[in-house]
Amino acid sequence: MSLIHIISATDRPGSNAYKVSKYVDTHLSVKAKTKIISLRDFPLADVAGGKYGKAPDSVKEFNKEVLKADGFLFVIPEYNGGFPGILKLFYDYLPFPQAFDKKPVSLIGEAAGAFGALRPVEQFEQLLKYRKAYIYPERMFIQRVNDSFDAEKGLKDEKMQELLESQLSGFPEFVELIQSQQPISIQS
Ligand SMILES: Cc1cc2nc3c(=O)[nH]c(=O)nc-3n(C[C@H](O)[C@H](O)[C@H](O)COP(=O)(O)O)c2cc1C
Repeated sequence: MSLIHIISATDRPGSNAYKVSKYVDTHLSVKAKTKIISLRDFPLADVAGGKYGKAPDSVKEFNKEVLKADGFLFVIPEYNGGFPGILKLFYDYLPFPQAFDKKPVSLIGEAAGAFGALRPVEQFEQLLKYRKAYIYPERMFIQRVNDSFDAEKGLKDEKMQELLESQLSGFPEFVELIQSQQPISIQS
């Protein structure tokens, strides 16, 4: 079985991203080994002042655990039309190029608004493409998350729930498919 890390992409206490991550975990764990990594646990205080190129030991330890995954599923909230700042910081401290190079990545957005974090998910996809990740084509945008999502049952709208389940059932297979392929060389 592959190992998929579910990245709860905010450090906000009591976040919806974490609640969605926990829900996602129950579904993904049927077909994969899983672990939730919350960016609340990223050692933020240790990178104050810009330690780029000389990451503190706490960040190296955090990253060591992150990088054990065969694939990643990001749960991303929308903050001011973009993704949370902690996600960019986390991303910038992951080693280049190996962290996402040919790694399968799936994305779920959640927001209070009507666009369900379409903007931050697509913005983050641009960054992932730069780092040569393989993006899973099925994505979910959870609109009006406080009304539409139940931590136990998932999405209240039947069609949206169907789409979410399809994404969560297909992604582990995508991860395994990529793992089974011969390495492909990608030129930048
Ligand atoms: C700093 C901040 C900015 C936000 N900006 C937006 C926004 O631009 N669009 C939107 O739909 N919701 C916005 N929201 C609402 C969040 O998307 C919503 O509360 C979401 O569930 C937050 O995710 P979290 O609980 O995982 O932090 C914002 C929330 C915060 C805290």
